[in-house]
Formats: sequence, C-alpha cells, structure tokens
Amino acid sequence: MKTRNVLAASLIAALLGGASLGASPASAENAHGGNQPPRMKWSYAGVFGRFDQAQLQRGFQVYKEVCSACHAMKLVAFRNLAEDGGPDFSASQVKALAATYTVKDGPNDAGDMFERPGRPADRFPPPFPNDQAAAAANGGKAPPDFSVLAKARTYERGFPWFITDALPFVGYSEQGVDYIHALINGYEEPPKGTEVPDGVHYNKYYPGHLIAMPNPISDGQVTYAKNDKGEPVVPETVDQYSRDVAAFMAWAAEPHMMARKALGFRVILFLILLSGLLYYVKKRVWSAVGGEVHGLQPELHKAG
Ligand code: HEC
Repeated sequence: MKTRNVLAASLIAALLGGASLGASPASAENAHGGNQPPRMKWSYAGVFGRFDQAQLQRGFQVYKEVCSACHAMKLVAFRNLAEDGGPDFSASQVKALAATYTVKDGPNDAGDMFERPGRPADRFPPPFPNDQAAAAANGGKAPPDFSVLAKARTYERGFPWFITDALPFVGYSEQGVDYIHALINGYEEPPKGTEVPDGVHYNKYYPGHLIAMPNPISDGQVTYAKNDKGEPVVPETVDQYSRDVAAFMAWAAEPHMMARKALGFRVILFLILLSGLLYYVKKRVWSAVGGEVHGLQPELHKAG
C-alpha cells in the first residue's frame, strides 16, 4: 500500500514537473542549447494559409539588399518571382531585375567562359565563387544557402504543442520561420561570464549561442515602398524585416505551397462527398434484404 502511494506521488510530481517545464518555453533552453523561439503568427500557416504577396515582395527586398551579400539562393530562378502563388512580380519587372545581375555562361565557340547580363531563366548568382571562399570571408563558416533553409531549421516545441499539433486541421509547420525570425532578433549582450571569442557573436536563439554571422540588419536599414499617400505601410524595424524575409524564405523553400493546400482541400472535400455517396448507395443496394435474412438472395426470401 505504501509503495503504491509513493509511486502515485512520484507520478504526479513527474507530470507536474513536465507541465511546468512546458509552460515556460520562452525561458527554457531547448535540446540544441539555444532558447526556444517564440511562436509567431504567419499568414500562410494552417490548412487555409496563404502567402501575403506584398510581404513576399518586401522579404525579397530584404534578401536582395542585405542577406544576399553573404547568402546564396542557388535553387531559385528570377522567373520564379513572377509565378503564381509567389511574390507575383510582373514578367517585365523580373526581366529588368535579372538584367541587373551578371551571370557566368559558356563555354562559347572558342571554349571560353564569359559573363553576360542575367535572364529570367537564370538562377540567382551566388555571392562567392565557392564554399571555401564563402567560409574564408566569414570567419571560417560558410553562410548556408537560402533556397530551402526555412525547411532545414526547426526546434523541439515540447509540451503542450506536440499534442495540439497532432490534431487534424491544426498541423503546424512554421518552426523554421519562427526560428529565423527569432535568430535575427536574438543578438544581445552575452550574460556575465560568457566568453565570446573573436569572429563569433552572441545570439540568444542560435544553438550554442555563438554564431559566425554578425548582426546582419538594423532598424531603418531597408526603405520599403510607401503607399499612395507617402506613408509607410509597415514599420521599418528589425522585427518587421525579419518577419518579411522569413516569409520570403518560406516561399522560396516551397514555391507551390498555395497550390498544394488548395488541392489538398479539394481532395478532402471530394473524399467526404464520396463517403456520403458510398454510404447512400450501400443502403440502397442492400435495402431489399430484410434484417432476419441469413442468405444473400433477397428475391428468394421475398418469394418464400
Ligand atoms: C556578413 C555576412 C552575412 C549576412 C549579411 C547575413 N548572413 Fe546569415 N549567416 C552568415 C554566416 C557566416 C552564417 C553561418 C553561421 C554559423 O554557422 O555560425 C549565417 C547563417 C545564417 C542562418 C542559419 C543559422 C543556423 O541555424 O545555422 C540564417 C537563418 C541566416 N544566416 C539568416 C540571415 C538573414 C535572414 C540575413 C539577412 C537579413 C542574413 N543571414 C545576412 C553570414 C551572413
């Protein structure tokens, strides 16, 4: 009897302990040794989520003006920026944009590589010729390619999210963008007693806290387009820049997300209708069979 009480008590203690750990995720270090990124609201989360085209355009601007100095985006072509479900630039805007880049092409008839202005079908040229050059210019760490980075980063969300996330229609797959937003806002003074060697920087959310990327952006650094009245549409702050660039990175990592979600919804709707129809047809086909019949010959039964 006594052991049972002890067991029950320790079970309750463990449950309470687990709950309180989960209840304060913002302060807790996660398994990777970085702080838990706060969960953000994203227009494209959830079954009916959609990208905000204006946000994707702003995010691209942040990438182009700031991040692309170090980060390549090798899987994205200029023309992708004009495709449905993306930032939705016009074809002529994309053509003009591509022409501002210089890309390497060749070999020509003489066997030489040459440079020419970019075309919409070209991919974004990388800022460094190779990973070694990228690492050498960044304190030994090459900046990772942006193309699928939003999908390649995540964090353990712990209690209670892992329960709610498993439910249908609330599935959450925005951990990558939560992390990117947190990372860009996570540069701060190191706590007392933490040594930060030369070439690395203290970041609250980076696993291990010491990141080779210097704080890349500050308030007011990127000037966004104004509305008709000349007023800013969104604030020009690090918080806003990082939301926008993270959204852009989510699109780059999954350019057909909106088409996928729309198709998924139609498929589920179709399956629901089909289930109803099958149920009705089954009722109809078997309606002639009385409840007490054991054989499969309704006509005989009626006759007898
Ligand atoms: C001065 C060069 C530089 C600029 C500009 C820069 N980065 Fe980085 N970034 C780096 C380097 C170097 C790393 C690799 C850090 C490491 O591994 O310690 C990195 C890593 C990252 C990572 C991955 C972190 C991880 O978990 O591995 C993200 C996300 C990121 N950068 C986002 C951005 C965004 C968004 C911008 C633009 C607002 C940006 N970076 C601008 C150099 C840069």
